[in-house]
Amino acid sequence: MAKIKVFRCRICGDPYIGSEAPTQCPFCGAQKRFFVEAKDWNLDEFNVLLSDISRKNLEAALQLELDNAAFYDCAKNAADKASDHYSLAKFKALMKVEREHASVISKFLKISRPELGKQLCNANAKENSKEGWEREDRAIKAYAKFRDEATEPRLKEFFAELVEIETDHLDLHAENIK
Ligand SMILES: [Fe+2]
Ligand SMILES: [Fe+2]
Repeated sequence: MAKIKVFRCRICGDPYIGSEAPTQCPFCGAQKRFFVEAKDWNLDEFNVLLSDISRKNLEAALQLELDNAAFYDCAKNAADKASDHYSLAKFKALMKVEREHASVISKFLKISRPELGKQLCNANAKENSKEGWEREDRAIKAYAKFRDEATEPRLKEFFAELVEIETDHLDLHAENIK
């Protein structure tokens, strides 16, 4: 059997134990190529000197992530009430990933992650998938702009990967609103 190792995701920093890295980070959704062995971790991964524009963009991204996490939390509870187990699982997973994104952004900003606020949602899971699609679409457009505006290679990499991850979420919703 393959040796069990500790890995870390370079996008969120979270550790993972397994014989190999997962295809997607279970915490933030980043692709497998961002995993490194924990013994090779770069201690300065989240220690980036931020330009004014990147600080402003990270603050905007933080708000988007907090709002989307709160929205998915509401959608998860609505699915639970409706005994819709698939939607409960989907919205719960999305809530956790967006909350993780908010945590990572807070790490770059060197602040503690703000509490999730409240967002309204619909009673119906299909409507929530439609709104989820729109929220992901807005996030993708914002992060593509932030990626292009970032002068720090690390933030360019970070926002580029967020675009990929949120595109996975968009595709997931698209499947459910056909
Ligand atoms: Fe996100
Ligand atoms: Fe997302």
